[in-house]
Amino acid sequence: MRHYIRIFAIVVFAAGAAACDEDLSSITGPTPNLEPTFSSIQANIFEVSDSAGRVACINCHTNVGRTPAANLNLLHDFAYDQLVNRASSQRQGWSIVSPGNPNASYLVEKLVATPSAPIVGLRMPRNIPPFLTDGQILVIKRWIENGAERN
Ligand code: HEC
Repeated sequence: MRHYIRIFAIVVFAAGAAACDEDLSSITGPTPNLEPTFSSIQANIFEVSDSAGRVACINCHTNVGRTPAANLNLLHDFAYDQLVNRASSQRQGWSIVSPGNPNASYLVEKLVATPSAPIVGLRMPRNIPPFLTDGQILVIKRWIENGAERN
């Protein structure tokens, strides 16, 4: 009996997760191809502007012709190691991305900039609205929640 209950729980959980992913595709707004994988976030957020006019992160976070802003290089050969399990230079004791834990990932704080957890410096993209949409931020949080894998 117990066995059946466990299988039932897994099926319900899997159905719920699938439903959430369907929701994601309807909220990614100006980046319709955005998915909760590192390569998708790299291609749709870090390296390009979007149709809403949000600027690319690599305008500043690049080592081409300059020192990367905040020493954070978001070009594709570097970005993963610059973010995941790397200590934030601004908030002591925090990683920029902490796999499995979006609420302890400083990247999320810098994108959301909630007054309840004040950031050091400015909201990203550095004080240049439009900022990321709630849906885009949710997709990034989902990638972190799923373990922040390098794929
Ligand atoms: C116009 C330039 C500019 C753009 C565009 C920009 N940044 Fe930044 N970023 C900075 C500067 C300068 C700092 C350091 C000062 C500050 O935080 O305000 C910084 C700091 C950060 C930090 C903190 C690093 C640490 O060690 O704690 C993160 C994370 C970050 N940026 C992510 C992003 C992301 C993601 C984007 C794109 C959505 C982005 N930035 C777009 C200039 C920029």
